[in-house]
Amino acid sequence: MRTQTKTTLAASLLLAVAGAGCKKDEAPPAGGAKPGTAKATGGTTTVQPANRPSQGKLPTMPPLTLPDDAKRAEKVALGHALFFDTRLSVDGSRACYSCHQNEHGNGGKDPLALGPGDKPLPRHSPVIWNVAYFQEAFYWDGRSPSLEAQAKAAWAGGNMGVGEDKLEAKTAEVASIPGYKAMFEAAFPGQAPSAELVVSALAEYERTLVCNDTAYDKFAAGDKAALSEAQQRGLDVFLGKGMCAACHAPPFFSSAMNAPKGVYFNIGIGTAGKPEDQVDVGRMKVTSAAGDWAAFKPPSLRNVSKSAPYFHDGSVATLDEAVKLMATGGIANKNLTALMGDRKLSDAERADLVEFLKGLDCGGKLEQPKLP
Ligand code: HEC
Ligand code: HEC
Repeated sequence: MRTQTKTTLAASLLLAVAGAGCKKDEAPPAGGAKPGTAKATGGTTTVQPANRPSQGKLPTMPPLTLPDDAKRAEKVALGHALFFDTRLSVDGSRACYSCHQNEHGNGGKDPLALGPGDKPLPRHSPVIWNVAYFQEAFYWDGRSPSLEAQAKAAWAGGNMGVGEDKLEAKTAEVASIPGYKAMFEAAFPGQAPSAELVVSALAEYERTLVCNDTAYDKFAAGDKAALSEAQQRGLDVFLGKGMCAACHAPPFFSSAMNAPKGVYFNIGIGTAGKPEDQVDVGRMKVTSAAGDWAAFKPPSLRNVSKSAPYFHDGSVATLDEAVKLMATGGIANKNLTALMGDRKLSDAERADLVEFLKGLDCGGKLEQPKLP
């Protein structure tokens, strides 16, 4: 899919805001529109209700529908163990979990992820909560069509370093560990362990990583105390003046989730101060379309307060800086999307926005399983 055009995106922003409770005839405020959904006056806050999308109906997470599978629990248990097991990597140094840890919001702490031998990978590890809601659009550039294909690529490639041609041998090695032998048999009765079964189990485990219990979710479900006043003002900025929902629409906070093959935008990350031929071309590598040059998938903002550093190259260290960059129009370059713009937020509005994003912390964490 090509980078979304201005028209379709403006329409989806309208939808997002309409879905958030605005009346149909209220156009969403354009970038640089009249300041203020909330005006602070001497310590008190006066607010125009019509400009408060946070107080309208807010979208909640749809259930993740999965086909019936009598062995799902056993597959998940196997995938869970494998996800945490460094014995799956080429040299015993890395598990999937190594780069998707709880302490870092289940994204990575290194700006660029470090594979076996501490070899830097081209990109930063993204947060993997709700990853099963992506449709044929895994990785920052959406090049991988399924969770199974993605797991296989991570396992064979630089992340785990095993090599495409050694996956079966590695499977045999792991499956010969007595505890694993029994787990494979329980999950896939009568089938010989294979690389296909390993990635199938990993994918089933990842489908359990659903985050739908943030303060935002509770607020959207009617618990009006779940978000603080500052967070509610921040949500107004997010849905209104800040225009963040154009690309990070609730309830996923990534408009690429639940969208066939995702959506991709050039916001300029990784383009500054580099000769053009050294820029990570992102989505363009997948589609060859010039309009996709240096365009990337908007990540979900769930768990964002815990997942510094930010962006596909980990180039921004703090959430405050990341939000500032997003609210002031991104980084100018030859392909910057027209959907970025300076939203002219005050310091107070930006602070509220950051507060709101803290309301997207997921309640759950990945549990360390008992390894065979
Ligand atoms: C060395 C660090 C590292 C290891 C180990 C690792 N990953 Fe990742 N993971 C990354 C990076 C970096 C990306 C983004 C790469 C890109 O977009 O090109 C990523 C992306 C992903 C994504 C895609 C998320 C999205 O938004 O589309 C999933 C799912 C994922 N990893 C799961 C796994 C699984 C399963 C394993 C084990 C087989 C694994 N990872 C091992 C670093 C790692
Ligand atoms: C035109 C679409 C678009 C708009 C509008 C937009 N974003 Fe983004 N956002 C993206 C894309 C694309 C990325 C990833 C870019 C990359 O890494 O190259 C991103 C990344 C981010 C990140 C980093 C997340 C991470 O895990 O690395 C944050 C934080 C963020 N956006 C917040 C916001 C806020 C707050 C607003 C509103 C002020 C906003 N965005 C508006 C498209 C958008």
